[in-house]
Amino acid sequence: MRRVYIQTYGCQMNEYDTAQMLQILALKGFEKVQSAEAADLILINSCSVREKSEVKALSILGRYAQLKQKDPQKVIGFGGCVGQTEGAKLVKKYPFLDFSFGTNNYRDLPEMLKPFEDRFGNEDETEILLPSSKPEAKSQAFITITNGCDKFCSYCIVPFTRGREVSRSPEEIIREAAALVQKGVREIMLLGQNVNSYWGKNKFGSFTSLFQLLQLFQDESEKSLKGLVRLRYTTSHPRDFDEDLARAHRDLPILCEYLHLPFQSGSDQVLRKMRRFYTADTYLKKMEMVKKYRPDIALSTDVIVGFPGESRKDFEDTLKVMREVEFDNVYAFNYSPRPYTRSADWEDDVSLEEKSDRIQELITLQRATSLKKYQEDIGQTVEIMLEGPSKNNSLYWTGRTRKNRVVHIPTQNDFQMGQLFEAEILEATNSWQRGVLKMPPVRALA
Ligand code: SAH
Ligand code: SF4
Ligand code: F3S
Repeated sequence: MRRVYIQTYGCQMNEYDTAQMLQILALKGFEKVQSAEAADLILINSCSVREKSEVKALSILGRYAQLKQKDPQKVIGFGGCVGQTEGAKLVKKYPFLDFSFGTNNYRDLPEMLKPFEDRFGNEDETEILLPSSKPEAKSQAFITITNGCDKFCSYCIVPFTRGREVSRSPEEIIREAAALVQKGVREIMLLGQNVNSYWGKNKFGSFTSLFQLLQLFQDESEKSLKGLVRLRYTTSHPRDFDEDLARAHRDLPILCEYLHLPFQSGSDQVLRKMRRFYTADTYLKKMEMVKKYRPDIALSTDVIVGFPGESRKDFEDTLKVMREVEFDNVYAFNYSPRPYTRSADWEDDVSLEEKSDRIQELITLQRATSLKKYQEDIGQTVEIMLEGPSKNNSLYWTGRTRKNRVVHIPTQNDFQMGQLFEAEILEATNSWQRGVLKMPPVRALA
């Protein structure tokens, strides 16, 4: 019996990589377990986008070292984005760490594990148990379509942890999607650090843009992807976000009316120093363009607070953009200097206290906007896809709308993940809605 536990941090691309690793390891007889204590092989899939993310991964490594003291047969591997740049140093520094790996070589895990073979159980013995180690059936799935980033925003470590941008071929992506749909997946999120620079070469040598790939998904949803009803993509860079893509939100029924488009700052001088290559005004124009094609689109964004040199006025410009666009959600982060990046050489001159005050102010504004957006649906009928029993209340199930809003509805005995229903929204907070299935009759859409 071979057991693996993977602790995952960071973005959805890391989650995708973890799922890939589990599949690769399943072929070597490893079964996924729910805790590090129960595992023979412990892997950390780390994130280094902010200092806090890195600290989290390193402190869990400390905890695993204690587990290994009790059971020295355990094998520990450190991977992901911190592993990519710092892995070799960490292995040198910590004797309990057996090996490291990065974002670009986790496919070689079976090779890397060879020196530790005698610490694991018999591979064949586990193969009989394999069915239980298969990934659980889920109605939503991720597919990474581009890896890496060529943008080199001045604050960002990702181009160093994920390397140069590489696009997968459209055929490979559709094949992967078809396999997922066969297993019951009904919603797919296409992933990349900057998906709208996707430029995939097909088997005839011609290139496919993101817009064309989305169209391909739409066409295939009647053929090899029959059963797939929702498609999303993330993350986009405002500079590359074009009219074709905006129009796709109107013209492709499978594409959800939801868009995550990080603007980072509303101040042109900060944007220039960030090397984002757009202004607040061009960002706002692109948002107008999307709304022109899809007036009911739900929008979300990322913001950095306290970038070097950010004045109170610069920060207020960020709030101004938020007021104008009215996002469903804003993911706001305190600026954190990162190794290898340009901005690491600049003084981190906004105090932690000031950053916290600004972020607090931003959150207060956003909570009011989220509440307003979520309340817009009260009395409306929306399509929801069931995700599973609600975490906090067994009387409810949780579903998600095409706009990515969370809806709780009263449980029914025959509920299954992935079912689509129409529901009427009765109540809304700034982070969820409560609704009831449309009665009579309860209508399953698909
Ligand atoms: N590729 C995406 C997101 C990359 S990382 C994009 O270009 O938008 C996710 C988010 O982390 C970023 O959007 C940014 O808001 C934040 N982030 C990246 N580097 C950071 C840093 N050094 N300090 C604080 N936040 C950071
Ligand atoms: Fe980082 Fe900028 Fe690339 Fe996004 S676009 S991953 S923020 S360098
Ligand atoms: Fe973090 Fe790496 Fe994603 S640094 S945000 S896990 S690409």
